Amino acid sequence: MNSVTVRAPATTANLGPGFDSLGLALDLWNELTVTRGKFSVTATGEGVDIVPQDTRNLVVTGLEAVFNYIDEPVPGLRYECSNVIPFARGLGSSSAAIVTGLIAGSAMSGADLTNEEITTLAADIEGHPDNVAPAIYGGCTVGVRNGTDNWIVDQVNIPEELCAVIFVPEVQTNTHESRAVLPDQISRSDAVFNIGRAAMLVNALSSGRLELLKYATDDRLHQPHRAQGFKAMPQLIDAAIKGGAHGAFLSGSGPSVLALATGREVTISYEMTETARTLGVDGKAMILPVAQGGASVLSSS
Ligand code: HSE
Repeated sequence: MNSVTVRAPATTANLGPGFDSLGLALDLWNELTVTRGKFSVTATGEGVDIVPQDTRNLVVTGLEAVFNYIDEPVPGLRYECSNVIPFARGLGSSSAAIVTGLIAGSAMSGADLTNEEITTLAADIEGHPDNVAPAIYGGCTVGVRNGTDNWIVDQVNIPEELCAVIFVPEVQTNTHESRAVLPDQISRSDAVFNIGRAAMLVNALSSGRLELLKYATDDRLHQPHRAQGFKAMPQLIDAAIKGGAHGAFLSGSGPSVLALATGREVTISYEMTETARTLGVDGKAMILPVAQGGASVLSSS
């Protein structure tokens, strides 16, 4: 194979209480073309001034992980990234980079890895499966670590008409810093608060009892701590609910706030944008369907 073009979707992680476990794929796709030749990385679109255009780019990390996994030398390759997922806003741009690199590496090497193998490599790189799993499988996923080198991922049935309304602030978040503010210890009452809601969330999505989402998307493990550095978060969540969302939460480590809806998307978008404006938070709203499928090869030659 001389060249391959692949794509992977944006994702939202945590969905409120499912910290590092639950994720959802969104219908917004980054593309990567890898061609044999002298090593280079070029990027266009989102984050173009910030994303490293060298070996530190996560598309390279992903692709090289495949060649290391099959114990073969990495060939000379040109990487061309076409990025439309907002960069460093909690919408899985890092995971999309890792996963496109892995899928391209799997195709270029002829290794033809299974989704399970790709998930393991991706989650090992990212450290948690909540963005990479939906990027690979599409839809909604729940993932857990089993031991030190094994990840178990399952898909959660969700209503087909489920849609995301997202307020994407202009400011970027560094995930490492956003994780550093989280306490190492939690109280039993906070653990109980989240366990019940994470379970209720999966059940509500599977059964279609979406009226439960306004309770089931609440969280005490990360959102209250992250709200210290992003004071508008609770008001943006309230605005989404007021606009008609079933539930709303911080998307991944933020700063985007994501609302789940089956209708009234324009009103929800308006309420979130207007609240952000009154609070002096610059940004834009997006309305995205759930991506039912995951990352794939688009073409090869
Ligand atoms: N579960 C992760 C977090 C998602 O909230 O930090 C972002 O990588």
